[in-house]
Amino acid sequence: MEASTSLLDAAAVGDLVLLDPLTEESLLRTLQERFRRGDIYTYIGNVVISVNPYRSLPIYTPEKVQEYHSCNFFAVKPHIYAIADDAYRSLRDRDRDQCILITGESGAGKTEASKLVMSYVAAVCSKGEEVDKVKEQLLQSNPVLEAFGNAKTVRNDNSSRFGKYMDVAFDFKGEPLGGVISNYLLEKSRIVQHVKGERNFHIFYQLLAGGSAQLLQQLKLQQDGRHYGYLNRETSALPGVDDAANFRAMQDAMRVIGFSPAEVTALLEVTAVVLKLGNVELSSSYQASGMEACSIAEPRELQEICELIGLDPGVLEQALCTRTVKARDETVLTTLSVPQGYYGRDALAKNIYSRLFDWLVNRINTSIQVKPGKQRKVMGVLDIYGFEIFQDNGFEQFIINYCNEKLQQIFILMTLKEEQEEYVREGIRWTPVEFFDNSIICDLIENGKRGILAMLDEECLRPGVVNEDTFLAKLNQLFAAHKHYESKETQNARRITDASLPPQCFRIHHYAGKVTYNVTGFVEKNNDLLFRDLSQAMWAARHALLRSLFPEGDPQKVSLKLPPTAGSQFKASVATLMKNLYSKNPNYIRCIKPNETKAAMLFTPELVLGQVRYLGLMENVRVRRAGYAFRQLYGPFLERYKMLSAQTWPRWAGGDREGVEVLLAELALPPEELAFGHTKIFIRSPRTLFDLERQRQERVAQLATLIQKMFRGWRCRTQYQLLRKSQILISAWFRGHVQKNKYKQMRRSALIVQAYVRGWKVRRAYRRYFRSEASARLANFIYRRLVQKFLVGLGRNLPPLSVMDRTWPPAPYEFLADANQELRSIFYRWKCKKYREQLTPQRRALLQAKLCASELFKDKKTLYPKSLQQPFQGEYLGLTQNPKYQKLHAVAKDKLVMADTVRKVNRASGKTVPRLLLLTTEHLVLADPKAAQPKTVLSLGDIRSVSVTRFSDGFLALHLKETSTVGAKGDFLLVSDHLIELVTRLHQTLVEATAQGLPLRIADQFSTRFPKGDVAVTVVESPQAGSDGPVCKKRGSHKLEVRVH
Ligand SMILES: Nc1ncnc2c1ncn2[C@@H]1O[C@H](COP(=O)(O)OP(=O)(O)OP(=O)(O)O)[C@@H](O)[C@H]1O
Ligand SMILES: [Mg+2]
Repeated sequence: MEASTSLLDAAAVGDLVLLDPLTEESLLRTLQERFRRGDIYTYIGNVVISVNPYRSLPIYTPEKVQEYHSCNFFAVKPHIYAIADDAYRSLRDRDRDQCILITGESGAGKTEASKLVMSYVAAVCSKGEEVDKVKEQLLQSNPVLEAFGNAKTVRNDNSSRFGKYMDVAFDFKGEPLGGVISNYLLEKSRIVQHVKGERNFHIFYQLLAGGSAQLLQQLKLQQDGRHYGYLNRETSALPGVDDAANFRAMQDAMRVIGFSPAEVTALLEVTAVVLKLGNVELSSSYQASGMEACSIAEPRELQEICELIGLDPGVLEQALCTRTVKARDETVLTTLSVPQGYYGRDALAKNIYSRLFDWLVNRINTSIQVKPGKQRKVMGVLDIYGFEIFQDNGFEQFIINYCNEKLQQIFILMTLKEEQEEYVREGIRWTPVEFFDNSIICDLIENGKRGILAMLDEECLRPGVVNEDTFLAKLNQLFAAHKHYESKETQNARRITDASLPPQCFRIHHYAGKVTYNVTGFVEKNNDLLFRDLSQAMWAARHALLRSLFPEGDPQKVSLKLPPTAGSQFKASVATLMKNLYSKNPNYIRCIKPNETKAAMLFTPELVLGQVRYLGLMENVRVRRAGYAFRQLYGPFLERYKMLSAQTWPRWAGGDREGVEVLLAELALPPEELAFGHTKIFIRSPRTLFDLERQRQERVAQLATLIQKMFRGWRCRTQYQLLRKSQILISAWFRGHVQKNKYKQMRRSALIVQAYVRGWKVRRAYRRYFRSEASARLANFIYRRLVQKFLVGLGRNLPPLSVMDRTWPPAPYEFLADANQELRSIFYRWKCKKYREQLTPQRRALLQAKLCASELFKDKKTLYPKSLQQPFQGEYLGLTQNPKYQKLHAVAKDKLVMADTVRKVNRASGKTVPRLLLLTTEHLVLADPKAAQPKTVLSLGDIRSVSVTRFSDGFLALHLKETSTVGAKGDFLLVSDHLIELVTRLHQTLVEATAQGLPLRIADQFSTRFPKGDVAVTVVESPQAGSDGPVCKKRGSHKLEVRVH
């Protein structure tokens, strides 16, 4: 929106075609207003006018690049990026070679514009390692060429002193492949001379400011620029320009392009030689013949030059001071005068430098050249020196302005003349627009027979004394009546008095203004001769690069043919350039310089008006307005837009023109927008074309979707069909497999059934031949055989006879398991019986006592497990051995069962006293240990029962029957160390005596009968109990606490 409003903004229209009214004044006002607003770009159709702002504007940012990338030319604000984008897309998508012609006078911004175009194209084309390298090399050629080919002039601090045309090749994807640079006529006179306020080529200042001390020493240079004659012995630093930094940038650029360090050094050495040549001073001396001759005034500089280039100083001195002249078969060495010597020196410096520049361009071309067979489309960018009008204009200005004249001619031919002629050719109704055709001026200069250049060549080749006077006289004579030629003589003839035209000059009315050229130096510069002695001397140098610049110096290849003159060389290269440009689609950038002072945002209307006039912008607008923005042959047009109509898509059977008519009729475009020529269709406004293009893009997107849709449908269908076929095949195989398995199963089953049936039938048929009980007998036989085998095997492998061994072999057959188990227990019992039988009566009695103890106490009293390991000794006192116990022994006699020491608990205090205990088959005797006298004798029948605790103590209560003889004494409380044995023996003795066992209570609480009444005994587990037995504590008269542990 912003763009279209700016295009239509009445005060500052973006496209001058829309200007209303169209006058020089309104055009100028518009440019000025736009310039004031910072809009430096304006269109005339698709031509861009650029007004140099002389300040940096924020309109070249990456965001801007994105904004203009694939934009619509007329839908965005005018910008140089828009034209670059249009050209690039045209090249990539429409397959057309493009050229971008940047014209304008010196300082108008051509070089900047060309850099902007290149950087834009580099930014929008695709990225990748290889592509980025190519892009970088192409972009980096600029700083190198600018260092060697640009210089400060009064008009421009960075004025291009050579013409440059760069072809960039792209592949079909729009990726840059490389390029070729052509250079045109370097202004080499600047090497030896430049006016005050200007500078020599940048490289000299950069080298001195940026070269390291070591480099300068190696090049034998002094850092101070005031030392050098060719630099006018000035330092001439430029404000805002850092020569040292530029030198580093230039070196970096060379590295990127691919210069080897040796090449860079060689290049700088030759550059230094040029600079030093300017310091070679000559002086006059008199020879013996009395003739004046020149000689080297101060040999040091010459010496150093020769060291740098590897040459004998004598050779160079001779080449500078003398000249070999061939007269018939003789060669004569003539001495030169001092001016002749200087002339030779300067010619040498100029030649070295210009040839070095050519070498530089070729070297860059080698790096950036396109690999054969890859190229597809080309975009050419032409940045050539602008039109120049100086105070004093010489041969260079003449050549430069001729070139500009040719470019203007192309512009006129392509935009104005050709366009109008085309309308006529195509039979379009058309009102011709007047414009100035500059072919007459071009012809004046370049005409092969009668042109100024031809005359100059003629003059140069003419034998005899050659000078510019005769040349000028010839021109005056030839062009006496020419409208665009003037000189003092022709003015005189026309009786015009004009003080501004000096006698040695001629004036040409160029398209861009009148320029007065001084003919002095024309012949010499056109000849551009270098004394053969000098080229031979250069060839003789050992410096490889320098030597290669002077191939004609090789004495083997001496040619008498004169080299082509500078003028004719330039004319030929301009002709080639024109041919090249004609073959491409032109895009114009017309640069305008707004003021003479390089001031930011200063717009001098008079200065701009001059440029508007000579650039023919008014005519350009007029033709644009009257004409048609776009034309194309019917065929390609139909091919491009046929998808916009159902009748022409996908194929049109009729003629191309009819097809286009049908197509456009269907699109219902306004009739005034279209014109049908004989072979081409014409569209008036870019907007209509833009509209068509937009519709096409939409339609292409639709078609792409359609194709995609159809393709996807087709792909899915074929895939489905394939899947279906596969599925059918798989299921067929699977079903077959299932059926086959089923059949096999059935077959197997049938065979089994068959076998059974057959067996059954056979058995039935043969049954009568067998006895009915045969099978039972057989089975019985087998059974018995197995049993026999089992039993015999068992008999052979009986387990060991030890009672502790309980192993037994397993049953070999299931049906023998029960029998085997039975056999096992029988065998075990038998083993035990055998064991018992071999026991002694004592041992048997002991084991029986142990068995009895187990029945009484196992799992009931904690003391029991401890007693297991103790053998029941019965006699612990040694009654027989100890005579002290004689009496007791007598009591027991042979009825003794057990004799031991016990402790009797005092019923009153709970304290214990030791007693001897004797158990006989009839009595239980308690005796005093000291006296060994029985104190208490209990008949076994008096014992009612016994109570013991659950714990591991030896406490027992002996309950007596009330009827007993000692019954009055009450129950006894005893503590025994062999409690288990005591109770067990008591029990056994009772059983033997009375056939009744001893009633045994194992409890924590029981009641005892004492003479003074019943006492409740409570057993308490307590750590306080002594280790040697329980502790009894009386608690009141009826309670006794037994502490055990
Ligand atoms: N678009 C721009 N933005 C800012 N400054 C610019 C622009 N274009 C040109 N300039 C300024 O103008 C100066 C001269 O521009 P440039 O060197 O491109 O002129 P030219 O037309 O190539 O001149 P010549 O014919 O002498 O080579 C530049 O050094 C720069 O300072
Ligand atoms: Mg330039």
